[in-house]
Amino acid sequence: MKITIDLDKLWATRATLHGTLGLVPTMGYLHEGHLSLIRRAKAECDHVAVSIFVNPTQFGPSEDLSKYPRDLERDLRLIEPLGVDLVWTPTAEVMYPSGYQTWVEVETLTKPLEGSLRPTHFRGVTTVVSKLFNAVQPHKAYFGQKDAQQAAVLRQMTRDLSYPIEIVVCPIVREADGLAMSSRNKYLEGDERKAALVLSHALTAAKELYDAGERDAEKLRRKMKDVIAAEPRAQLQYVSCADYETLAELDAVTGKTLLSMAVLIGRTRLIDNFVLG
Ligand code: PAF
Repeated sequence: MKITIDLDKLWATRATLHGTLGLVPTMGYLHEGHLSLIRRAKAECDHVAVSIFVNPTQFGPSEDLSKYPRDLERDLRLIEPLGVDLVWTPTAEVMYPSGYQTWVEVETLTKPLEGSLRPTHFRGVTTVVSKLFNAVQPHKAYFGQKDAQQAAVLRQMTRDLSYPIEIVVCPIVREADGLAMSSRNKYLEGDERKAALVLSHALTAAKELYDAGERDAEKLRRKMKDVIAAEPRAQLQYVSCADYETLAELDAVTGKTLLSMAVLIGRTRLIDNFVLG
């Protein structure tokens, strides 16, 4: 497993990897969700590269960039047994050298949901992921379904910029009690860990309504809101019942549909989603 920081060393190692290459972009502090992406890449590609970079441009001014959890040694220990060929751990100076001024922006898909509360977030994500694509030149790139809007935005970017890269979106990995795995779960203190189950409970309640035949999107949104309102430690940011591809809010559920939400548990912001149909 080769670990590199600088671009020229990354390129030199990349040149030795023949056959197909799968890239798993991460911000580190790896959990089972990330490891499932790496295992999938390993099963589908001749070689696997993992990037670890806490990307400052996708954090808003009042967000958790400085306290975002980091533990590179632990991450490398977790990756080592999985047969990864290349780990790229660029610094902010490598990624955004002084004088940096080029951005990649997906216009429409970035506006609702996460984008409505985090207006500069996706510009940071699409910029860093296109830089990762250009530098690593993978054949496939692996992302988690937990960031459903990110996956939709990156599919759009890949199509629009004609990257010859397949975007592979892998299922959400959950704790035994249903909490979606996230590096931010580390912030949950005391009772907040239990309160955080309200996200998966709200999604399950809406799914049960859907399974019982309900197709009125507003009723599904209302159900999720009611479950969240019953948890005193939870503060709802949004719930959505939207078209899976366009992310436009629906009146009626007819095709593939994304139920999603963002909820503050104390000061920790959590997201979760479920796909219907
Ligand atoms: O999903 C993430 O961890 C990040 O948004 C990504 C895709 C690695 C870009 O920084």
